Amino acid sequence: MKQSELLALLKEMTLEEKIGQLFQSSPEFFKGSKNRGEITGPMKTMNIDEAIVSNVGSVLGATGASEIISIQKEHLKNNRLGIPLLFMADVIHGYQTIFPIPLAIGSSWDLELAEESAKVAAKEAAVSGLHLTFSPMVDLVRDPRWGRVMESTGEDAYLNGEFGKAFVRGYQGDDLKNDLDRIAACVKHFAGYGAAEGGRDYNTVDVTEWQLREYHLPAFKAVLDEGVKMVMTAFNTVKGIPATGNKWLMRDVLREEWGFDGVVISDWGAVLEQVNHGVAKDDKEAALKSIIAGVDIEMMTPTYVHNLKELIEENKIQESLIDEAVLRILELKNELGLFENPYRAADESLEKTIVFSDEHRQLARKLATKSAVLLKNENVLPLTSSQKIALVGPFANNTDLLGAWSCNGSTEEVTTLAEGMAEKLAENSLFIAEGCDIETGTEKQWETAKEAILKADVVVLALGESSDMSGEAASRADIKLPKAQLELIQRVKQLNKPTVTVLFNGRPLDLHGVIDTTEAVLEAWYPGSEGGRAVADLLFGDENPSGKLTMSFPYSVGQIPVYYNAFNTGRPKGAEDNPEKYVSKYLDIPNAPLLPFGFGLSYTNFEYTDAHLSDSILNENNSITLTVNIKNTGNHRGEEVVQLYIQDRHGEVVRPLKELKGFKKIFLDPGETKEVTFEINEKMLRYHHFDFKFTSDEGEFIAYVGPNSRDVIELPFKLEKS
Ligand code: GLC
Repeated sequence: MKQSELLALLKEMTLEEKIGQLFQSSPEFFKGSKNRGEITGPMKTMNIDEAIVSNVGSVLGATGASEIISIQKEHLKNNRLGIPLLFMADVIHGYQTIFPIPLAIGSSWDLELAEESAKVAAKEAAVSGLHLTFSPMVDLVRDPRWGRVMESTGEDAYLNGEFGKAFVRGYQGDDLKNDLDRIAACVKHFAGYGAAEGGRDYNTVDVTEWQLREYHLPAFKAVLDEGVKMVMTAFNTVKGIPATGNKWLMRDVLREEWGFDGVVISDWGAVLEQVNHGVAKDDKEAALKSIIAGVDIEMMTPTYVHNLKELIEENKIQESLIDEAVLRILELKNELGLFENPYRAADESLEKTIVFSDEHRQLARKLATKSAVLLKNENVLPLTSSQKIALVGPFANNTDLLGAWSCNGSTEEVTTLAEGMAEKLAENSLFIAEGCDIETGTEKQWETAKEAILKADVVVLALGESSDMSGEAASRADIKLPKAQLELIQRVKQLNKPTVTVLFNGRPLDLHGVIDTTEAVLEAWYPGSEGGRAVADLLFGDENPSGKLTMSFPYSVGQIPVYYNAFNTGRPKGAEDNPEKYVSKYLDIPNAPLLPFGFGLSYTNFEYTDAHLSDSILNENNSITLTVNIKNTGNHRGEEVVQLYIQDRHGEVVRPLKELKGFKKIFLDPGETKEVTFEINEKMLRYHHFDFKFTSDEGEFIAYVGPNSRDVIELPFKLEKS
């Protein structure tokens, strides 16, 4: 449709028809729907009749070409002007072929593979009838008690922005109208959701505007600049006002300052939740605040459909406010080509060959091998197929490897670790036993496990959190492995067999009792549909672990929040053995995290030599080059993520001890050396000053290069301004 036709359509619409476009509900209200769709929030009674349903603009949580085609067909019969529905869902890390969780994909530091995974997810979702995904989530996370860290790519805003852009490129491509294998993307949760106090989901967020602009907003801006089509509001408060009714955030920043003219959707029920927050006395005031704030679509609560007409009649709002929201929604439907073809790529027969194809599963397996992080290895890994191996633990033969946001993925389609390992071993070389359940264990389970272990040369413990222990509404105050599993480790240790722990979990854990007790630890996260084979590939050295943590593992929950880009403070402790009393420290634990941002081991070693800068003076018009040689000094081929950090020694506001400014993942054969270079320019040194001006200051800086945020080589330089 041409823009003029859209405007003509808008003109033709009654007020009820316009307001209906601003409402999104789950599929059960629609004729042709076979099920309720995925429920990801509290269900409110909607009190909506057929007249309202016939005007609804979009549906969330329906999946499958047949279901979506039948809902659309029925809807078009009942919608007076034939305005098609928009179908949206949470395709967070895969549609039916499930990739590792985003916190794992982030640990791959592989933007191309991340983009590829989103492209596959889009292809499967599109042929299954979907038009848009509620992804990427780019919330900055620093508190592993929060269950939703599994959906993020970690504690660095720059890296989250890079991954968010890669996901958007993969989902949307560059021609949504004609490339029917792509779908629109929605960046979330705008903004600051990851800073929930106490790591407790939906809790108060209270960060300053400076922190918002310096840490929580940049990844959103990066993704908006990449062309994401939709923004989802966060549940939390921003500067004391819930995001979903926050005019400053949604209009002044998002639309005026950043120029976003796409669709804004509330999170599930967040419009009405302004009443719980205590900023709206009833659903009518909630609707008023959100529509004024520029929230176009209300998800899963009916305050708009029940109140907007009255608010116009009472002259509390102008109809033009509704028109601008409706037009943005019609424009998005038009960009997707829905007016020409309301069924877009939905195709029941093609769905059978495209969804969960071998090619897609191979990509999931590859990405899972790149996302796992080797945390420790005292000459136990890789295993060999001549060994007799006891595989013990609640994840030994467990299909719960998809994580909490697995969309249409089904655990029945998951390859377990036992299956993956059995494919690598001769008969009677693998002895499998649970040893305990996720949270409880019995003597019988232990006795069976002990039998298996006594027959083996080496033990692989498969431990972790069940997928419902992370994700939305799944915060944990204790981030250790459940007690039964820690006890299992202690009992296994008594049998004196070399032991490898593989972790399947959705957050950084307190690894005391794990990493200090077993000879090797592999962080596999929730590795997805092909997780069992991928982990087996890594355990047997067919793939060499190359993942690096994008979220610090705290020494203990008492240390949270702990993150690499911290400030020095006025009384820095500095070295852990500093005996001074009056410094910023704990009496009972170190300041440093157990494992730092950027950390990850390999089966080989990488040596960094000849690191140098092309010049020690930088100005606004030139750039300087950091060069370093990386040599694979071991006997395994492998990949290394070379990381560039920069510290601004003095700023108008405090500046972090270091900030990630670049990274390169390189492949090296044994004995091979590669030269790696990074361009450093003035733009990389800019930050938000007290007045929020985003500029750099001349002065002293230090560039750091290394394999993680802790073990780095220092290279000082100066910025001089003309
Ligand atoms: C949920 C989540 C959000 C998701 C939405 C739709 O409550 O907060 O991330 O996209 O509802 O399922």
